[in-house]
Amino acid sequence: MAVDLLLGLQWGDEGKGKIVDVLTKDYDIIARFQGGPNAGHTLEFDGIKHVLHTIPSGIFHENAMNIVGNGVVIDPVIFKKELDNLKKFNIDIKSKLLISRKAHLILPTHRLLDAASEAAKGKAKIGSTLKGIGPTYMDKTGRNGMRIGDLELDDWKEKYRALANKHEAMIGFYDVDIQYDLKDLESEFFAAVKELKSLTFIDSEEYLFKAQKEGKKILAEGAQGSLLDIDFGTYPFVTSSNTTAAGACTGLGVAPNKIGDVKGIFKAYTTRVGSGPFPTELFDEDGETMGRVGNEFGATTGRPRRCGWLDLVALKYAVQINGVTELMMMKGDVLSGFKKLKICTAYNYKGDVIKHLPYNIEPENVTPIYTEMEGWKKDLTQLTKPEELPPALNAYIDFLEKELEVPIKIVSVGPDRTQTIHR
Ligand code: GDP
Ligand code: IMO
Ligand code: MG
Repeated sequence: MAVDLLLGLQWGDEGKGKIVDVLTKDYDIIARFQGGPNAGHTLEFDGIKHVLHTIPSGIFHENAMNIVGNGVVIDPVIFKKELDNLKKFNIDIKSKLLISRKAHLILPTHRLLDAASEAAKGKAKIGSTLKGIGPTYMDKTGRNGMRIGDLELDDWKEKYRALANKHEAMIGFYDVDIQYDLKDLESEFFAAVKELKSLTFIDSEEYLFKAQKEGKKILAEGAQGSLLDIDFGTYPFVTSSNTTAAGACTGLGVAPNKIGDVKGIFKAYTTRVGSGPFPTELFDEDGETMGRVGNEFGATTGRPRRCGWLDLVALKYAVQINGVTELMMMKGDVLSGFKKLKICTAYNYKGDVIKHLPYNIEPENVTPIYTEMEGWKKDLTQLTKPEELPPALNAYIDFLEKELEVPIKIVSVGPDRTQTIHR
């Protein structure tokens, strides 16, 4: 049985959490493969809004097993808070949530290093969520990291101490003023590790291999988005993992020839949190309206998201890199009421018209070229059937499908589970 993927195609926050929750009824296993608590995945049902950071978005369904794969980085402190938030929902976490022994641990000093690195960059800062993601992946690739499986060894605290001491020396290397009380951070960390150790650790690649053989249906849940990919995103303004399809192979131990559907998810417009180039960004009333109506604030940090028109050049690039087989368009409801809508179909790049994403997309090199489309007035939030969609929205969708050469299978018209139209 093939493993399906669900990936964000923009700069994150496309609505992955909502769609994974919607799709979970058709799957036996939901598995996160990269990223960490920099992610904030929101899902809503029965009038309750949930935000998950590390725990897969299938956790509210009886039928599905949830796996945190080897490619994920886990902060025990944030993980404990997530578990605490779930307590009132009576979920049997020990049997519904499995954690890879090969997943790496975020230590308190990783978070401090993140803060020191950002402070040292000054104006050139990445706009990191400061969850310690970069430093933890640096230790992973530098072969210094601590893994979940280490917590099962008697000497894990010694390993912890050696790494934390090294980090403290590194923090001193940055010439910035970072205030912290490591003793406090450590007591919180050790308490959280204790709780983490009460969960089930597995060799997840073996578990998933067996599950595939048994014909189990598996959905891999991406975090962040393709334009934040460490290799293919807007480097250096990216996250520190492969958010694209290949990341699911390395982050779960799934072979490339075992990947099935690649579900790509995008907003009907574009948002970005943090620093970095964003060619279609708006600084006018239209951008302000998108932010207000779309409630565009980061689910992890609460920062306002930058908003702009849909960028088809960037979206095509993401479709191509990931081999997307079906698309999901989110937040169409937010565009109701705009008289005219713009879609960027090409860039003016240093005087030439180009239709691919170049190496350098800073504003001094790239100006978006737009196609204008009619807007629609209809409130979409109560619609349930594709026949009910207004003609101008259908024209918008048709245009995108033609340009991207991939069908749009879901149109989302609100944050709730039920506000989902299947085409
Ligand atoms: P994720 O990180 O990709 O899971 O996305 P986030 O949860 O960070 O951000 C998406 C936000 O949009 C959340 O607040 C969702 O509740 C909300 N949302 C998802 N789909 C829709 C939609 O179709 N319409 C509206 N208005 N909100 C949506
Ligand atoms: P989800 O999974 C949106 C952004 C940060 C920053 C950059 C690097 O909810 O879509 P990091 O903390 O990784 O060092 O931050 O990446 N970023 C996200 N933006 N959604 C996310 O996750 C993000 N995770 C990281 O804002 O610009
Ligand atoms: Mg998010």
